[in-house]
Amino acid sequence: MRILTGIQPSGKLHWGNYFGAMKSMFDLQEKGENFMFIANYHAMTTVRDGKALRDATKEVALDYLACGLDPNKTIMYRQSDVPAVQELAWYLSCLTPMGLLERCHSYKDKMAHGFDATHGLFAYPVLMAADILIMNADLVPVGKDQKQHLEVTRDLAQKFNNAYGEVFKLPDAYIPETVATIPGTDGQKMSKSYHNTIELFDVSAKKKVMGIQTDSTPMEEPKEPNGNSVYELYKLFATPEEVETMANNFRAGGYGYGSAKKELLSAYHRLFDPFKAKRDELVKDPDTLEDILREGAKKANACAAVTMEKVRRKVGI
Ligand code: ADP
Ligand code: TRP
Repeated sequence: MRILTGIQPSGKLHWGNYFGAMKSMFDLQEKGENFMFIANYHAMTTVRDGKALRDATKEVALDYLACGLDPNKTIMYRQSDVPAVQELAWYLSCLTPMGLLERCHSYKDKMAHGFDATHGLFAYPVLMAADILIMNADLVPVGKDQKQHLEVTRDLAQKFNNAYGEVFKLPDAYIPETVATIPGTDGQKMSKSYHNTIELFDVSAKKKVMGIQTDSTPMEEPKEPNGNSVYELYKLFATPEEVETMANNFRAGGYGYGSAKKELLSAYHRLFDPFKAKRDELVKDPDTLEDILREGAKKANACAAVTMEKVRRKVGI
């Protein structure tokens, strides 16, 4: 089974990215042939600063390695190191109905958040389909918001197969329901665009956790934990027993949000402090990071070449 995922280097990674996307990838690392790429072409739809893009690309690679990506088990590469994805995106574009892209929520959402209506942003799902299909992936771990892009990918694979004969498998999204949407500090979906994130290695994690918005139920009153952001976030970090204890504390009354936030912060440190130590080591050795990415690109290009050879023959190029 081939498992592939990508992440945009469009800013610092946050808890939503970790539990919504990265962790599924690590959990699946033992289960198949794995690919993880840094979608720097995709990030160009919103990042307009070359240095920022180059730096963020490295930061994402470091974050993945620090948090558990094993380069012996997962091929990690920069999207731009596999230029054939652009070529495949064009072939797919020529089969993509405008209406299919017009229906995509993420495009409409970006418009609603004031991003420029560029062709790149509009055509984004076609490039994403190319990323996935070029590696012949079976399973694609992503967050819930990417589900529609996986449907577009399947649709385009089917259209290509119908037009030219069977080349592509239809990949499945892998979206663990338990972590469908991670809330941010204001209770809506955690996202860079909403400025409500807590980054993986956030120097102001304490301030942000203590600032998570809660209701104004007095400390002594019983509270319903479900739906409360502090409790929902704690569930991601804590053991089932710890989660049950917090739920009981909330329901019993006399337990305030301040105490819950402190427990959340310490559960975060328990998980992330060892990752931080690993990351600090990796930062000291930039050559190793570059070697890993170069090696990843070599393997990824070899896989892409197998697909592209078939594709070019079919399309007449
Ligand atoms: P952002 O919304 O901050 O821009 P991205 O869109 O770059 O994040 O998301 C990268 C990956 O992380 C995607 O697979 C996405 O579904 C996942 N992800 C991001 N935020 C969350 C969240 N709050 N809950 C669950 N998954 C998330
Ligand atoms: N669109 C994805 C996101 O914003 C990133 C991405 C690009 C991706 N290409 C992909 C994810 C291919 C999985 C597979 O999170």
